[in-house]
Amino acid sequence: DTPGSLQGRSVLVTAGPTREPIDAVRFIANRSSGRMGFAVAGAAAAAGATVTLIAGPSEQPTPPGVERIDVETATEMHAATLERAGDVELFIAAAAVADYRVAQPADHKVRKSDAPPTLSLVRNPDIVGDVAALPTAPFTVGFAAETHDVIDHARAKLTAKGLDMIAANRVGEGLGFEVSDNALDVLWAGGHQRLGPMAKDRLAAALIELIGAHCHAER
Ligand code: PMT
Repeated sequence: DTPGSLQGRSVLVTAGPTREPIDAVRFIANRSSGRMGFAVAGAAAAAGATVTLIAGPSEQPTPPGVERIDVETATEMHAATLERAGDVELFIAAAAVADYRVAQPADHKVRKSDAPPTLSLVRNPDIVGDVAALPTAPFTVGFAAETHDVIDHARAKLTAKGLDMIAANRVGEGLGFEVSDNALDVLWAGGHQRLGPMAKDRLAAALIELIGAHCHAER
């Protein structure tokens, strides 16, 4: 066997959306299907890594050889990730995490009333930012889903969140959320590489190869 680019490495991946409850029956979510992040987890395992996948609600099958932990909210994803991130060599944040949650979700079903209701929101913790700030931070790769000024916004997130790399994902027009194909602009302090458009599983393998080359060089 030829060893993969991540042979023997420990990798943690987040994928899918989060669900932020409004009341006992309703939630706020987003269009992430989990496809991209599950493909990344599968590609890392195929490249020889030991992979843990922290997944928001998704219909995607667990990739072969991957340990999967299911979570629902951003708060749960944060806790599950931070519990493990200090012990891995590589962290890849492909999840579409809700930036806000409902301040006080009701534990019963809220009834219709005459006055339009108001939702009060509070910020969720920044999972990838908190991982990158750990004293024993792994090599940390973020994603950035953007509809416009993709590269500029992704570069700003790379710096603001203290990441080693970021995969900028232009979303809309048949790419990004839900669909089977995608394209990424991968950015790091010294460079830039465009991957795709292609099917998410092939794209994930190309991304893992690129990450593998960089984390070997830096660690
Ligand atoms: O799941 P699919 O349908 O296949 O779609 C794939 C995808 C478009 C969801 C994926 O490729 C992608 O771009 N994921 C990141 C989406 C996103 O929420 O980006 P963002 O720009 O809001 O967040 C930037 C980075 O911070 C991301 O790595 C995100 O995981 C992370 N983040 C964001 C908020 C938060 N509270 N904690 C985080 O860790």
